[in-house]
Amino acid sequence: MTDLAFYQNRLHKNVRRLGKWAARDNITALRVYDRDIPEFPLIVERFQTEAGVRVHLQEVDTGWQQSAAEHREWLDFIVEATAQTLAVPPEHVAVKRRARQRVQGDKSAQYSATGRRGEELVVLEAGHRFLLDLEAHLDTGLFLDHRATRARVAAAAAGKRFLNLFAYTGSFTVYAACAGAQSSVSVDLSNTYLDWARRNWALNRIDATRHELVRADVSTWLRGAVAQNLEFDLIVLDPPSFSNSKRMAGILDVQRDHPWLIRQCLALLARRGELFFSTNLRSFELDAQVQTRAQFQELSPQSIPEDFRDRRIHRLWHIRR
Ligand SMILES: C[S@@+](CC[C@H](N)C(=O)[O-])C[C@H]1O[C@@H](n2cnc3c(N)ncnc32)[C@H](O)[C@@H]1O
Repeated sequence: MTDLAFYQNRLHKNVRRLGKWAARDNITALRVYDRDIPEFPLIVERFQTEAGVRVHLQEVDTGWQQSAAEHREWLDFIVEATAQTLAVPPEHVAVKRRARQRVQGDKSAQYSATGRRGEELVVLEAGHRFLLDLEAHLDTGLFLDHRATRARVAAAAAGKRFLNLFAYTGSFTVYAACAGAQSSVSVDLSNTYLDWARRNWALNRIDATRHELVRADVSTWLRGAVAQNLEFDLIVLDPPSFSNSKRMAGILDVQRDHPWLIRQCLALLARRGELFFSTNLRSFELDAQVQTRAQFQELSPQSIPEDFRDRRIHRLWHIRR
């Protein structure tokens, strides 16, 4: 077997194995390859969109030394092999390549998303419609590792006042609103993602008068909300590991800042309220002191779905006062 055939073979087996599970659970967006073979450091996701099947292929940086020409040629073969195995035309494989130069301190700059606005794609997940862009950003608009968390949020949301912090494209809010949340506030710093969330509202016929989108730094917003004694029944707190923006005061570091963030959320939580806290930081350690403030139940790794070989993609806690 040629090297490339090892990759194709594994991809094919994964699709067969996961395809049955996905069909049974009605899952149309899934990860079909997750660095299974070290020589093929790739992440491949398959989306059944309203326009047909689209593939998102991401190269993972392993520090390999290849010349630019070797790298280009290797990646061309990979795209061809992926397209063939998944039975899609190569132009329906969106590639996020490793950039040749690492910019110190900026992880995202290791990759080059194309930057151009891609095809407008809509994917259906558990009856909800989400707008995807496989080209413009490193992330697609929908984090697949939190598929089961979204279902948990929906199960808890009926009649509730919901708060979504670091809301990104608003997927947790879409689930909550469609499950009958009374009202919601979704906070994010990025206009791009808030616009995206607004379009997700429209796709799911969500009433924007009851489901508010707020552009703010979460820390600043939390200070104001606690000062005003706002109250929520259900909160999702899913911060990035690090964040540094001109529009916020200082840097957000989830390891350093999570005790404060969780305490502010607890202050906003109604008596029988529930808080979901998640992080993708691999080295994360939950602060011992903050755990004495409430009841913490870790839900990961059960919350990580079957299509993620990476069993440490996130950590998730369910927190009650
Ligand atoms: C990892 S994503 C959150 C994922 C999201 N909860 C989901 O599952 O769809 C990070 C988001 O945090 C936002 N963000 C980063 N720093 C922020 C800050 N200080 N205040 C508000 N939003 C911030 C980014 O714009 C981005 O949308």
